[in-house]
Amino acid sequence: YRDPEFSAALIAWQKQHGRHALPWQQSDDAYRVWLSEIMLQQTQVTAVLPYYQRFLQSFPSVFALAEASSEQVMEHWSGLGYYTRARNLHQCAKLVVAQYQGQFPSDPVLLQELPGIGRSTAAAISAFSYGTIAAILDGNVKRVLARVFAVDGYPGSKPIEDALWLRAQALLPQQDIQAYTQGLMDLGATLCTRNSPSCERCPMQTRCLAYAQGRTAELPVRKPK
Ligand code: ADE
Repeated sequence: YRDPEFSAALIAWQKQHGRHALPWQQSDDAYRVWLSEIMLQQTQVTAVLPYYQRFLQSFPSVFALAEASSEQVMEHWSGLGYYTRARNLHQCAKLVVAQYQGQFPSDPVLLQELPGIGRSTAAAISAFSYGTIAAILDGNVKRVLARVFAVDGYPGSKPIEDALWLRAQALLPQQDIQAYTQGLMDLGATLCTRNSPSCERCPMQTRCLAYAQGRTAELPVRKPK
């Protein structure tokens, strides 16, 4: 499955056409990166923006967040939804202070042991903060890979998800992991959308099997009833 041209094309596209002005892209501070990735797990960028800024003003460091009361944290999360994220966030801050002296570990395996951080979020935090070469696979990335490689079967099922993780890992570049990771997210969010993908502007058009087969509307396969 190795294919260095995939990452080269994606990195070049991200640098020219991807998003560069998002507030969490302005710093490689793991605390800021972690906070953004948790907020973005189930929430759109536009909804996250004001919460992210307000949260950082009140809790500028992992120490400030760890010392805050649950009530203060919930107050700052109120309106974002999926409140388990806020409870895990607060718990995670306390653990990072107690176990890691306030320094988020760079190893995705260790990050994944912390509350609220799954495999993909751990890889994103590690890649953006420390440049670790690790694969992400969120809903948007599943859609991109399912289309480029015409992967049949529901991506939420275990065997298909396993196959997509193998793809995601095999495609990793040896450098520019930040632009690559952001590029996958940007492609899924801006061009390779669920309902009306902009294939004419896509850097993957010439290698996309779903496009070649006229199946972008069918892939990824929807959740079976
Ligand atoms: N969704 C999840 N992580 C993101 C990021 N770093 N930038 C934009 N959207 C995202």
